[in-house]
Amino acid sequence: MEVIIQETAEKATGVAARIVAALLREKPDAVLGLATGNTPTALYEQLVRLHRDEGLGFEAASSFNLDEFVGVPEAHRASYHHYMRRHLFDHVDVRDENVHLLDGNAEDIPGECDRYEEDIRDVGGIDLQILGIGPEGHIGFNEPTSSLGSRTRIKTLTRRTRRDLAGAFDEQDDVPKHVLTMGIQTILETRTCLLLAFGVRKARAVAAMIEGPVSASVPASGLQLHEDARVILDEAAASELERKSYYREVYEAKPSWQR
Ligand code: PGA
Repeated sequence: MEVIIQETAEKATGVAARIVAALLREKPDAVLGLATGNTPTALYEQLVRLHRDEGLGFEAASSFNLDEFVGVPEAHRASYHHYMRRHLFDHVDVRDENVHLLDGNAEDIPGECDRYEEDIRDVGGIDLQILGIGPEGHIGFNEPTSSLGSRTRIKTLTRRTRRDLAGAFDEQDDVPKHVLTMGIQTILETRTCLLLAFGVRKARAVAAMIEGPVSASVPASGLQLHEDARVILDEAAASELERKSYYREVYEAKPSWQR
């Protein structure tokens, strides 16, 4: 795992935006894996700015989102369909037919999940997967004890995750119990993972992911098995890491051809 620690969330987001932009410039038809939540909103803002001011193109790119609620209409303000339109898709030149989100209202849920896996395979896999992390170590909505070999499927949210999500709904009881999410194995098969985490609320999960044992109890720790996982943190999210100074040395001493 490559651990990149920046002073602030803003600087950390800048590093992530440069990585995404470099990929799109080198490979305009890149397949992006996208995440939702509070963490990546500033990243999407920067990508929109790069599109507007510097001509960063999404026209040939495609995308697959990590997860979606079950039973929430696409037009609902809390749905991830809505989130993605609001933060990215409505502001860049990505084509509708290249955008993929799970349908949480599908009649045949297992069929929908299988189709999603097939669609990912059909485009040749995901080049770059953006990820956040939950305070209990979930990636996507793979809650603690999710199988490290899991694929896209339905999951039940923990109470804590449902509490964290309450702000997007009118009432706590409106937060769905069920979601569809790419599995850990689906995520492990992406070519590069870029996980962003900001704030002290994430510090324990971040330390467990990077320095703890690989365990389904901390699903993000599965990324220790990924060939190219990059974790971009602000100081607060990095505060519980034991080997912080080593990660800094590695980053600062990177040969120029690796930058
Ligand atoms: P957040 O969510 O970005 O809103 O903190 C991250 C996650 O739960 O994966």
